[in-house]
Amino acid sequence: MELVKNPLFARYFDRCGARLEERGGREIRSELLAGLSGRVAEVGAGTGLNFPHYPASVREVVAVEPEPYLRGRAAGAAAAAPVPVRVADGTAADLPAADGEFDAVVVSGVLCSVADVPAALAEFSRVLRPGGQLRFWEHVRSRDPAYAAFQRAADLAWPHLMGGCHVQRDTLAAIGRVFTVESCRGFRFPPSAVLSPPAPRIVGIARKVGVPEG
Ligand SMILES: C[S@@+](CC[C@H](N)C(=O)[O-])C[C@H]1O[C@@H](n2cnc3c(N)ncnc32)[C@H](O)[C@@H]1O
Repeated sequence: MELVKNPLFARYFDRCGARLEERGGREIRSELLAGLSGRVAEVGAGTGLNFPHYPASVREVVAVEPEPYLRGRAAGAAAAAPVPVRVADGTAADLPAADGEFDAVVVSGVLCSVADVPAALAEFSRVLRPGGQLRFWEHVRSRDPAYAAFQRAADLAWPHLMGGCHVQRDTLAAIGRVFTVESCRGFRFPPSAVLSPPAPRIVGIARKVGVPEG
């Protein structure tokens, strides 16, 4: 299994990540999770910032987090969540789950950091039932060529400072190669960001196409 241990980044994210919640993050998390139901796998749950936003129609969240410090923080947040959340070890490419057991997979700020995006997306598809949803909120390569060039330059250093996070991935195209994208909205986050490498964002819904058995 891929080893994800970023103690310095984990502590930085724990201290600073929550600040963006007050700058519109909460609203986007609510949008990301609106209307979900049944059993959900959240991959790369971090400190559990999504947990307060799961609707009551969600029966259980299995929150997978490979980084030990963050997993501990997620376990604390799970206890206060409005729906049952079970925190587990695992990685995006190796989820502790059977084939087709989830109604939805959720990722936010994770596909920028996984070592092998196609392998992760194939694994999400494996654990989803036919018709299940991938909900994503990710930062992506800008469609503005000048901004994308800036991101390409930033990407020389950014992954070394930010726990392996890359800022120039065309994540929507990668999702579209595995899932059917049903909706996607592009925007800048936080809205006040001027020249921030991870500012170009997408939030959306993709679906696993396939005929249910039986
Ligand atoms: C920027 S944080 C986002 C955390 C959380 N999803 C959120 O929205 O606040 C990136 C997260 O991805 C996790 N991560 C990194 N590589 C991963 C992998 N290969 N599989 C699963 N999670 C991974 C990190 O440990 C971290 O929790």
